[in-house]
Amino acid sequence: MNEAPLLRAQDVRKTYRLGRVDVPVLSGVDLDVQEGEWLAIVGSSGSGKSTLLHLLGGLDRVDANSGPITFLGEDLRAFSPARENRYRNRDVGFVFQFYHLLPELTVLENAMIPALVGLGRLQFAQEKKAITERAATLLTDFGLSHRLKHRSSELSGGERQRVAIARALINRPRVLLADEPTGNLDVKTGHGILDLIASRHGTGTTVVMVTHDQAIAARASRQIHLADGRAESAH
Ligand SMILES: Nc1ncnc2c1ncn2[C@@H]1O[C@H](COP(=O)(O)OP(=O)(O)OP(=O)(O)O)[C@@H](O)[C@H]1O
Ligand SMILES: [Mg+2]
Repeated sequence: MNEAPLLRAQDVRKTYRLGRVDVPVLSGVDLDVQEGEWLAIVGSSGSGKSTLLHLLGGLDRVDANSGPITFLGEDLRAFSPARENRYRNRDVGFVFQFYHLLPELTVLENAMIPALVGLGRLQFAQEKKAITERAATLLTDFGLSHRLKHRSSELSGGERQRVAIARALINRPRVLLADEPTGNLDVKTGHGILDLIASRHGTGTTVVMVTHDQAIAARASRQIHLADGRAESAH
């Protein structure tokens, strides 16, 4: 039996410390993400959606008294530093709530970054061409072929979001974690972004998407609701 879910959170706890005040955000979240599903995490502003997604992506740590987050049965806390880097960079693709593109770099360069991280000089020389082609193909699929050489600071919000998603997918991650991928966009542009996510999901990528918008959440195959520090099935 090797049926561990792709991602599992068990009694996950996270408290922020603001000065001397503890701000509990997650107080016992249980969640399974099965390989191949498209899960939406919904909840009001401040309910901890970004916090949970960052924890799932290995970008932040759970509290000392928290239960584990496991990836294919392995506790993220048990990862070596090298395994942790590989998890963040290869197993998971992360789309941040506010894009986090590097404004001075071109669209093409931004999308290539995760594939270049950690390469030695020789590997870099050997692989740069293939990575450039992979990024260009992905960006072209995303309708950005005419923007490859533009700086990301010159793009519209919808274009930036597409670059951010291309960057998250460049290493062909098992799971795409997307934080409000349509949050800053008009409805039509937002649904265009969702079409891109849907097509990736259609090719087998697991998707976990945060949103506060019911119409957006409805495109996922399952929804959970975050409230009072816990996750509940939304159906
Ligand atoms: N680095 C931090 N330090 C202190 N408090 C934080 C930090 N990050 C988040 N918080 C607090 O944790 C709570 C949850 O924040 P989080 O960003 O996870 O919410 P969210 O559900 O993503 O909200 P939104 O829908 O507005 O993006 C908020 O009350 C926030 O103020
Ligand atoms: Mg958020």
